[in-house]
Amino acid sequence: MEITVTVNEEQYRRSVEPRLLLVHFLRDDLGLTGTHWGCDTSNCGACVVWLDEVPVKSCTVLAAMADGKRVRTVEDLAFGTALDPVQQGFVQCHGIQCGFCTPGLLMTARWLLDHNPDPSEGTIREAISGQLCRCTGYENIVRSIRWAAEHPDGATP
Ligand code: FES
Ligand code: FES
Repeated sequence: MEITVTVNEEQYRRSVEPRLLLVHFLRDDLGLTGTHWGCDTSNCGACVVWLDEVPVKSCTVLAAMADGKRVRTVEDLAFGTALDPVQQGFVQCHGIQCGFCTPGLLMTARWLLDHNPDPSEGTIREAISGQLCRCTGYENIVRSIRWAAEHPDGATP
């Protein structure tokens, strides 16, 4: 079937299998490998992207369901070489070890801060409760998101 999807402000028209998952469409058809595929059980959240401005696990969405919609992936967070404050927060507060979970967490964090610029630690933990990090524990991830909340314009150069 033919689908037309706008990904990171760019429109793509592609022929896809009806059973193709959005995560595979992004990675394999469009080459946007920043979105990770980490499980077969919809548990890990490494695949989170925005679909019409709402975070979704892209392994739970068919590419066909994105037809006519807008997708935003982690590749769209930085502006040129300027990292988004949530990306800076993960660097500043050591929220990354292997980085596998990071793209999904960044997309959830950006959405959270867009809707609640000053979230409590509990709110952050609830927002990322659908996402697993096998490396860091969550302390530094929560600190990273708080850092971004406290530095909405990013780090001072
Ligand atoms: S790949 Fe694990 S929740 Fe989507
Ligand atoms: S940093 Fe390795 S899974 Fe989270």
